[in-house]
Amino acid sequence: MSKGRVLSGMRPTGRLHLGHLFGALDNWRRLQEAYECYFFVADWHALTTEYAETKGIRENIREMVLDMLAAGIDPAKATLFLQSRLHEHAELYLLLSMITPVPWLERNPTYKEQQQELTTKDLSTYGFLGYPVLMASDILIYKADHVPVGIDQVPHLELAREIARRFNYLYGEVLAIPEALLTEFPKVPGTDGRKMSKSYGNAVYLSDSPEQVIAKIRPMVTDPARVRRRDPGNPDVCPVFDLHKIFTPKAERDTVIDPGCRTAGIGCLDCKGVLLQHMLPVLQPIYDRRQDLAKSPEIVQEVLEDGWARAKKVAGETLLEVKTAMHM
Ligand code: TRP
Ligand code: SF4
Repeated sequence: MSKGRVLSGMRPTGRLHLGHLFGALDNWRRLQEAYECYFFVADWHALTTEYAETKGIRENIREMVLDMLAAGIDPAKATLFLQSRLHEHAELYLLLSMITPVPWLERNPTYKEQQQELTTKDLSTYGFLGYPVLMASDILIYKADHVPVGIDQVPHLELAREIARRFNYLYGEVLAIPEALLTEFPKVPGTDGRKMSKSYGNAVYLSDSPEQVIAKIRPMVTDPARVRRRDPGNPDVCPVFDLHKIFTPKAERDTVIDPGCRTAGIGCLDCKGVLLQHMLPVLQPIYDRRQDLAKSPEIVQEVLEDGWARAKKVAGETLLEVKTAMHM
């Protein structure tokens, strides 16, 4: 039997890149083999920061679902759905908001950080403050046992646990207390050496063709101290080497790349060539699948509708239990 229920969501930021692949999707793909999985596109959560610019949201959802399918999320194994299609989440969010003290939300470190960082947006909204309450509702409505998230989401998960405990204390044991499944993921640098991110323009996308991948890796930033071919380099400070850690087998890294770099035995272009030899066979099947999927655009709608029907069963049941417990 299944080891329990897993739930996770991703905000629709558009096309997905290697950061998403190794930070989440690869892990989701493994989890779907052993757990009852619910994965969703968190479009309401996107609104908390993008409320003023919603024109692209449909397209972003579509691109993201195509990337998820191409990366191996299998609708026959996992339930894949769109958050805003499940109004049950919104109803539970409203009910949970009644029992969530505002100071719990105000002292959330991710909230404070983001509000300071995203200075171009006015994030003094009720919806942005309530972000973790909506997230708690996403999780608790499926009575999820495990929630795979990155470290930045852990404070939100802790809040979801506190809200669930408070609910159970007030109305009886209805909600399951979810556990964070902290995803151990490698550092994924972008082509400029900074963290891979759409907003930095340094990302390699799952939808990039092999030619595009090559064109992005070739000029990628290396150890800045290695200026000439004959200068020895230091892989420990080179973002290309961080990608080798993901794609290149350890034996080859230890015997060819690392010593070759330190002794100037290999040049950076050779080094990137080796990287591409290992990278392209991983990315090519994803790219091919994505090209195929894009030929039948109705697939996104079909997958999400099917996911909606399956998710609704569970969400509807929990909501009924919640309302009964609350005498509503
Ligand atoms: N906040 C998550 C993120 O930005 C997305 C998300 C929304 C989520 N609801 C969730 C993740 C519920 C896990 C569980 O990555
Ligand atoms: Fe980086 Fe490879 Fe060049 Fe060394 S040889 S600096 S690891 S790209």
